Amino acid sequence: MRSIIYEKNLNKKKILLRLDLNVPLKKEKIIDATRIDKILPTLNFLIHQKTKVIILSHVGRPKGKIISWLSLKPIAKDLQKKLNINVRLITKNINEIQNKEFFDKFNEEILILENIRFYSEEENNDIKFAKHLANLGDIYVNDAFSCSHRSHASIHQICRFLPSFSGLQLDEEVKALNKITTEIVKPITCIIGGSKISTKINIIKNLIPKFDNIIIVGGMANNFIEYFGNNIGKSIKEKNCNKIIEEIILLSKKENCKLLYPEDVAVSVNLNGSSQNKELDQVKSNEMILDIGPKTINKIKKIIDNSKTILWNGPAGYFENPNFADGSIEIANKIIENNKMNKIFSVIGGGDTVSLLNNLNVINNFNFVSTAGGAFLEYLEGKNLPGIIALN
Ligand code: 3PG
Repeated sequence: MRSIIYEKNLNKKKILLRLDLNVPLKKEKIIDATRIDKILPTLNFLIHQKTKVIILSHVGRPKGKIISWLSLKPIAKDLQKKLNINVRLITKNINEIQNKEFFDKFNEEILILENIRFYSEEENNDIKFAKHLANLGDIYVNDAFSCSHRSHASIHQICRFLPSFSGLQLDEEVKALNKITTEIVKPITCIIGGSKISTKINIIKNLIPKFDNIIIVGGMANNFIEYFGNNIGKSIKEKNCNKIIEEIILLSKKENCKLLYPEDVAVSVNLNGSSQNKELDQVKSNEMILDIGPKTINKIKKIIDNSKTILWNGPAGYFENPNFADGSIEIANKIIENNKMNKIFSVIGGGDTVSLLNNLNVINNFNFVSTAGGAFLEYLEGKNLPGIIALN
């Protein structure tokens, strides 16, 4: 993997820069800008080198359709403000854009193409689409570690057609995660939550042999709660997971990895409602599980106290409604307490987790914060990520 930072003669080169600007948005407003702020050094470096930059990024999962509220417009605006430079959003169909349309007519330095996932070719890793994208630039830079677990056209296939480099943020994430995985101290606890169940549930099996405790919270925990015969009402869950859960349970016994899932929960009839604590057998069909309950929180705190390393990816509940943020806040505070006494090494990952900790203003109280969610877990799993393989 070659880093763009060591490249000479970048002057006037057109750089296709893949970023992960997948930030939480509400009514076209950015809720948490961490992923934008983290890539500013890369953009400043490229501006300083007098390059012309074409940014490629996605937001959300539009699945090949144009969805207006998943536009990159607010992100382009934010970048423009932060860089103090004109950032033009190109909304024209990417397939119709020609290389010569860019930069020649305009005195511009940074362009940003509209959400790359508006095109089904992106997730299909379409080679023609990748080639077309590559034609727009002279050099490709991947500074989206958090997307590098996806075999998508702008991450994987594109590297076939251009000299390809890693960006500053990707370098930093890989370096830090390498250090963490080689110098890790036991007992190690991994807390996995969030709502992207399908991305994470299959990874757990491969993490079991590496960890002493795996704590399952957030959306994925609902699958476990239901597996053990409880009603989970209207809660989010992934379909057809019983087989993988069975395998996870069997393997955790064999490998002596303690598996913890919630033993009580906080529920409501809707996302904006107030919270009610319940035992697992009390959840009604019109309710949804939106946080872990007090007994579970106490168990998790004890495990944290007895751990030397904590890896945390994904909130424990629907923290966007403060009534369901208790589980996540208590976990955060317990880790911070141990961190301050130098009793643990803590690594946090994932867009939502970072957003939560930013909200609480405690983001600097952990040893390392990764912007990546699924990519972070797959890297810990020991997998070679397609985006990194392509750069190599
Ligand atoms: C993330 O938020 O982890 C990245 O942007 C990747 O998003 P995805 O899980 O939708 O591929």
